[in-house]
Amino acid sequence: MSDVKNNPIGIFDSGIGGLTVVKRMFQFLPNENTVYFGDTARVPYGSKSNSTVIEYSLQDGKFLIDKNVKIIVVACNTASSVALDELSDKFNVPIIGMIEPGAKLALSKTVSGRIGVIGTNATVNNKAYSKELKKLNPKVEVFEKSCPLFVPLAEEGWLNHKATLLIAEEYLHELKEHNIDTLILGCTHYPILAEIIHKVMGPEIHLIDSGTAASIIVKDYLIENDLLSDENKNPVHNFYVSDVPSKFKEVAELFLGTEVENLTKIDLEELIH
Ligand code: DGL
Repeated sequence: MSDVKNNPIGIFDSGIGGLTVVKRMFQFLPNENTVYFGDTARVPYGSKSNSTVIEYSLQDGKFLIDKNVKIIVVACNTASSVALDELSDKFNVPIIGMIEPGAKLALSKTVSGRIGVIGTNATVNNKAYSKELKKLNPKVEVFEKSCPLFVPLAEEGWLNHKATLLIAEEYLHELKEHNIDTLILGCTHYPILAEIIHKVMGPEIHLIDSGTAASIIVKDYLIENDLLSDENKNPVHNFYVSDVPSKFKEVAELFLGTEVENLTKIDLEELIH
């Protein structure tokens, strides 16, 4: 009988952005098999209604359950903001989103208690990070700002472009005026733009990468529950997408830091059935 501990970690996102989270998972959990699903045919989730994001997230989760995953990581901050309860109710495996880990890491770093959050429109409108931060520490002050243009800029690879700097200054000046000392990068794409965000916010700001935070939580969970893989060699990583957009290879490599092998395109019908 196969042991659950050697089943893969399932990770899903609205598209390619979640590969920034996979990159962290590989660093923190190098011996684990993984299955990634990116809903590239229906991206973005960040501008969709909560009910649509919940519906898509349940389909994404089901796809991973069918791959026999031992845990589901919701790499998409937008899906983490609105669909975590529904996913936990529906599926019988632990569901780890980005919000709680990111909030906890931010609280461990802030000294002034003034924390900024940037994310998609949906994540910011739902105030998921604010609610979580306040739940964990009612004394903190939280300032949220949606930065939707960061997604296409990151995908374009404009990491050090003057247009990106201008847009970052425009988006972030409010947060700077609020004198935050910690900023949560509440979207899969934003870690790619960390350098330019640092440039605008100043070198002393703590930038919180939710993918790092979630990887630490997943690792702790697997250790505590005796679910770490004991097959220590050559883990298998399978990537599934619902479309292969132009420039997929380039963007995926930028986000993951290495080539995406074992890529399979699935039909949306397979997801919706
Ligand atoms: N993955 C999304 C997130 O982290 C960003 C892209 C989208 O809007 O779907 O919120």
